Amino acid sequence: MCVRVCAAVALLVFFPGSLALDLLRATATSGDPLSIPKVHCRCSSYPNGALCSWSQPAASPPTHYIATYRERHGHSSTKMCNITSSGSSSAFPDSEQHWHCHLPNLKLLTDYIINITAVHSGGSSNFLASFMLEDIVKPDPPVDVRVSHHKSRNLLVEWSPPPTWASQHIFPLKYQILYQWEHKGSSKSVNLGPFENTKIELKGLIPGRAYQFQVCARELLGLGHCSSWSSPVNIIIPRTKA
Ligand SMILES: *[C@@H]1O[C@H](CO)[C@@H](O)[C@H](O)[C@H]1NC(C)=O
Ligand SMILES: *[C@@H]1O[C@H](CO)[C@@H](O)[C@H](O)[C@H]1NC(C)=O
Repeated sequence: MCVRVCAAVALLVFFPGSLALDLLRATATSGDPLSIPKVHCRCSSYPNGALCSWSQPAASPPTHYIATYRERHGHSSTKMCNITSSGSSSAFPDSEQHWHCHLPNLKLLTDYIINITAVHSGGSSNFLASFMLEDIVKPDPPVDVRVSHHKSRNLLVEWSPPPTWASQHIFPLKYQILYQWEHKGSSKSVNLGPFENTKIELKGLIPGRAYQFQVCARELLGLGHCSSWSSPVNIIIPRTKA
């Protein structure tokens, strides 16, 4: 039994994209570690709760999930987490199915335990992890990124905060800018920031060169992680006429 459990844990500790979830235990009674849900939790609007997600492999048997959470310390009650699904549809029955559960009204600076159990005809699997809301903060990317020419060779980069970040006035965001270009076959990049403004003027860029701009957003005091990069915006600075 221990061999089985340890193998499952080793498989799961480094799963990608995980945000500071502290895995406590992962078990599969059927002996198939792949049936253990790989759960990722994220807070995209501090302090408005978290969304935990996992996917179900296309080939897995019909599975029913139970998701609960509770405070790690003290005697608070265990709460059920409402589960919704997306992904697999009748048009693509073989695609992965994604499951989500929303944890509203979490206390700040408090350790929580999330317990996800997958029940299928071959047995059941369980995923138990601990997290604190502050560690899993990751806003959605900024939107509406615009790059325009400004005073001859300068560029003005502007963007809007992610609309899903609801408490902009209480928990402001800061931003980083990444711009990239190709030079003699190799790709170069510059990372600027953080900025509290939602625009910045850049000087000294090279006329005729194609630049790609992206922006990410992070909670101002540095909670959690920067968002994913926004979709790239491309611009070429015109050569000044001779
Ligand atoms: C779960 O769904 C029920 C019914 O839609 C709702 O009353 C309840 O507040 C929801 N619970 C959570 C934790 O979202
Ligand atoms: C996790 O949830 C399952 C299903 O509700 C339950 O049987 C199990 O005891 C729970 N584990 C912990 C450690 O709370």
